[in-house]
Amino acid sequence: MNIIFLGPPGVGKGTHAKLLGETLGIPQISTGDMLRAHIKGQTALGKAAKHHIDAGELVPDEVVIGMVRERLAEADCENGFILDGFPRTIPQAEALGTITQIDAVINLVAGNEVILSRLTGRRVCKDCGATYHISRLHGKTTCEACTGPLIQRVDDQEHTILNRLKVYEAQTAPLIAYYRGIGLLHDISAVDGIEADHQQIK
Ligand code: AP5
Repeated sequence: MNIIFLGPPGVGKGTHAKLLGETLGIPQISTGDMLRAHIKGQTALGKAAKHHIDAGELVPDEVVIGMVRERLAEADCENGFILDGFPRTIPQAEALGTITQIDAVINLVAGNEVILSRLTGRRVCKDCGATYHISRLHGKTTCEACTGPLIQRVDDQEHTILNRLKVYEAQTAPLIAYYRGIGLLHDISAVDGIEADHQQIK
């Protein structure tokens, strides 16, 4: 199956795309993670993307489309994939339609208050990228998986989160009508806890 996870920043796309990918045995492809890997590796693409990401703005369509096109051509995508954070604009969705066929779009839904609390409380492992929430860390400051230090993403500062939400409304939310119109959209309320929400998604 070829699946897209859609939804505002912090709604749980990464969390659920990873879980579902493990359940179905297909790769989770996060354009945010790919861009952060480019930034960490100080590639030309990473250097061009960094200021957009730090400001909570979208990276230009042509950059992200090229990156996804290359990734979907890799062998591990042959039996399906889960896109997390792509497409994020109508031109990206149209480009994706020329690359491959999509079977389902999962639209995760939560209110802005929930999102703000999730993102201001999110901590990520500097080394392996694993995601945590401070409410479940009980004071721990290192990663359970690799013992790397837990840090706050630059774009998880409150003023940047508010800009990301505005950008989402203006540029990404129109994809809900786009995918509903072609009969692919499934709305999932993402506020009942990770396990309960995962069961709904499955
Ligand atoms: P990206 O990394 O994709 O950021 P995002 O879409 O803003 O999504 P997040 O990673 O912030 O949140 P999420 O929905 O994955 O939530 P998570 O599972 O972590 O993109 C970053 C930037 O890269 C963009 O701003 C843009 O600049 C650029 N970019 C990326 N793709 C692009 C594209 N296609 N085009 C252009 N630019 C692009 O969960 C959040 C927190 O909540 C965690 O702490 C988690 O533990 C917790 N949590 C999750 N679910 C639950 C739950 N059900 N109950 C309780 N807690 C929960």
